[in-house]
Amino acid sequence: MTLAQAAKNIRKNAYAPYSGFQVGAAIRTPSGDIFCGVNVENVAYPEGTCAEAGAIAAMVAAGQTEIAQVYVIADSPDPVPPCGGCRQKLAEFAQGSVQVTMATTGGQEKTVTVADLLPGAFGKGHMDLG
Ligand code: THU
Repeated sequence: MTLAQAAKNIRKNAYAPYSGFQVGAAIRTPSGDIFCGVNVENVAYPEGTCAEAGAIAAMVAAGQTEIAQVYVIADSPDPVPPCGGCRQKLAEFAQGSVQVTMATTGGQEKTVTVADLLPGAFGKGHMDLG
């Protein structure tokens, strides 16, 4: 299955009764495995989680910590970009050159890199005080 198909399929399971905005995310790792996530909202609104966060959690729970490619899809007029928090979460596990494809259910696609999404990112090097 392609990363696009995985994200499109999983999106149907998104739990988004408050926004009505269902998002699906799929991550491919260097091993070729695909991990998926959906947004999971909550009646206490700030407790909701994004699709990207779900996919990252599934990847890490499976013992993998390297992202090779990302695909995010939503029923949006334009390809939906990951939120600020998710950009930082992706950067934790992805090199700057990793491609992130943002898609609409209508068939539009836009591909950028993790570095494009988070220029000047706070990274592990900034913690190196030694
Ligand atoms: N959302 C995601 O899951 N990923 C994104 O990249 C953008 C936003 C979710 C969060 C919330 O459940 C809904 O979309 C509306 O913001």
